[in-house]
Amino acid sequence: MPSPARHAVVACIAVVCLSLTGQASAQTASRPEILLKKMTLDEKIGQLVQRAGGRQRALNSRIDDAELERVRAGGVGSYLHVAGAEPLARLQKVAVQESRLGIPLLFAMDVVHGYRTIFPVPLALAATWAPEAEERAARVAADEATAAGLHWTFAPMIDIARDPRWGRIVEGAGEDPYLGARMAVAQVNGFQGGNALRPGSLMATAKHFGAYGAAIGGRDYNSADLSERTLQEVYLPPFYAAARAGAGSFMAAFNDIAGVPTTANRELLRGNLRERWGWQGLLVSDWGAIAELLNHGVAADRATAATLALDASVDMDMIGGVYADDLKAAVEKDPARLKLLDEAVLRILRVKEQLGLFDNPMQYNDTERETRELLSPEHREAARAVARQSIVLLRNEGHLLPLDPAKLRSVAVIGSLATDGMSSLGSWRGQGKPEDVVTVLKGITAAAPKLKITSAPGADPRNLDLSGIPAAVKLARAADVTILMIGEDYDLTGEARSRSSLELPASQRELARQILGTGKPVVVLLANGRPLAISELAETAPAILDTWMLGVEAGNAVADVLFGQYSPAGRLPAAFPRTSAAVPFNYSSNPTGRPADADLAKDTVRYHDLPITPLFPFGHGLSYTEFRYSDLAQSAQSVGPGERIDLSITVENAGSVSSDEVVQLYVRDPVASVARPVLELRGFKRVELAAGQRKRLTFSLTPEQFAFWSPKGQWLVESGRIDFWIGASSADLRAKGSFDISKTHTGTAPAAALPTRVTVSNN
Ligand code: NOJ
Repeated sequence: MPSPARHAVVACIAVVCLSLTGQASAQTASRPEILLKKMTLDEKIGQLVQRAGGRQRALNSRIDDAELERVRAGGVGSYLHVAGAEPLARLQKVAVQESRLGIPLLFAMDVVHGYRTIFPVPLALAATWAPEAEERAARVAADEATAAGLHWTFAPMIDIARDPRWGRIVEGAGEDPYLGARMAVAQVNGFQGGNALRPGSLMATAKHFGAYGAAIGGRDYNSADLSERTLQEVYLPPFYAAARAGAGSFMAAFNDIAGVPTTANRELLRGNLRERWGWQGLLVSDWGAIAELLNHGVAADRATAATLALDASVDMDMIGGVYADDLKAAVEKDPARLKLLDEAVLRILRVKEQLGLFDNPMQYNDTERETRELLSPEHREAARAVARQSIVLLRNEGHLLPLDPAKLRSVAVIGSLATDGMSSLGSWRGQGKPEDVVTVLKGITAAAPKLKITSAPGADPRNLDLSGIPAAVKLARAADVTILMIGEDYDLTGEARSRSSLELPASQRELARQILGTGKPVVVLLANGRPLAISELAETAPAILDTWMLGVEAGNAVADVLFGQYSPAGRLPAAFPRTSAAVPFNYSSNPTGRPADADLAKDTVRYHDLPITPLFPFGHGLSYTEFRYSDLAQSAQSVGPGERIDLSITVENAGSVSSDEVVQLYVRDPVASVARPVLELRGFKRVELAAGQRKRLTFSLTPEQFAFWSPKGQWLVESGRIDFWIGASSADLRAKGSFDISKTHTGTAPAAALPTRVTVSNN
């Protein structure tokens, strides 16, 4: 292939070899730098252009002759909504062999909680409180996606979400920055296969930087307006953690913060992310967000929009075509911008190099591997294990659960969601197919072959048709136990799926009322992509399992828990409110001058007509066993800069079945120069305990983990007392202690981003 492209690649390889063997001088230009020197202005801009190669549901459908011509001309740096080892090999060949410089393309897709083997939705993954499970899910997704020709995923979404009306809460890890940061790191490691990009990695994208989840009223795309302290302490820590974990790419959020659209937020992107945090990866806009700067009212024309985004250091324009069509004029008008353009090009070329695309552009295009990896038995097994870990037992009156099939003759499985594979896949389902799903009905049937199982849809969350309810009630009356699956279908959460009400859809409420009205034992399986306001259900249903949207192995995982093969140990990553009007609600609020106390005294920070507490608190989740906490100890009474303090506790499984417990550490700085939250999560560990087993857990912390964002705009650790609690949820604190921080000093990082070391020993 004696093409100019091949010459360019070979020359560059020679330079890299030289530098690798240490024979080149320190000034040796890198391959991206060498390429940059050869590029025309159009070719440079071309690298900044990301185009849709298809639609979300019709991948590759837009790759036509005109598109190939664009690639030959060097006018495209990346495609999204494409996939498949073979079609992407063909497309890549055009870039590498037929364009002047032979620069490979980056292929991207939203591989969020699985590519073909779909895992639980991210909110459910966070409910595992097991970063190892998150990492495993991301690893499987990456193995499949990279086998299918993809280099880059737009995940993880690590936006903190404190308003469950926001439909995208389903895509993240919930309300807490500490939990969010741990889950962010786990996913980056899982997707990329370690803490740095390397050949064969699936490049992760930390999105949507920095306060997309703070959209006012929970309305998607809406403005955020929050204090610098809340931004730094709550919304940014997962991003800091992801940057430190080596996320290759970041995506800027659609929305504005206090009037500054993030896509044009020079201070946040160039200042905070790149200069303060030192992150130098590929920053991509969200879909058409550069063009949307006109709608935001900060750019009068597209050339200005291009300039604002480039100045803010947005490297790649997803879809908008603004860089493609209007950046040239902007650069020609002000040649000083050429330097910024060159920096953006270099950042893009660098990730292409790190992914190994210059050396082996077809590394991701092995069709045999693709066939082998997708939906492999091992991947399904991993999906089942993680799905089980995601399930949260919200309520279990009279120990209705687990069910003993030997003591039952018949079970009625009621609810259209019990046979709705699509809804088990949830929002962002990659290449997942409903027919791959073991539905809840199938899972229960397979797990209890001797039981008489009847089923009826009853009512569908998508409509108000109640005509199927009488038949469902009849089955419930005839059965020993009813499994009632109700909640949200897949289309009620996700992008642009914000809801003004957190109630169950009306048809589901009515179905529940009538089935529970039979007076027979009923286990509710809740399907949801957000916390729901289910006060009535929580009073009337004896047992409720939060089964989210659990992916392809949903039915098997649910059956494992229903019949006691696995004791549920998921914990809520976001609180359930008592009513829709009680949100936003967060356990980690400031104390106020009139704290609400347990007696609900008047004239305190509370509603007149509603307890201030949530229906189910952050960190809540029951078990089939009981855990006892004892022997709290601490290594010191005070801790200073550079030192650590160890806090230890023994946890015992006092019941008769083996189960995991999620041990949670909360802290409070009771007196500081600014009001500090009444509780903050600062450590957790999911541990497995056999019946009767005891384990000792030690949480090891540094003073920097108590830093707050001071009024002077820096991380500050103040001397003084710190209170801490160890317990089973934010509202079930079992042991309390305190220690002193001996010296005031500055911190360097968002406190919630820093991990607490947890060690576990047998006791
Ligand atoms: C818009 C969404 O906000 C973003 O999360 C996603 O990655 C892109 N579309 C691409 O699908």
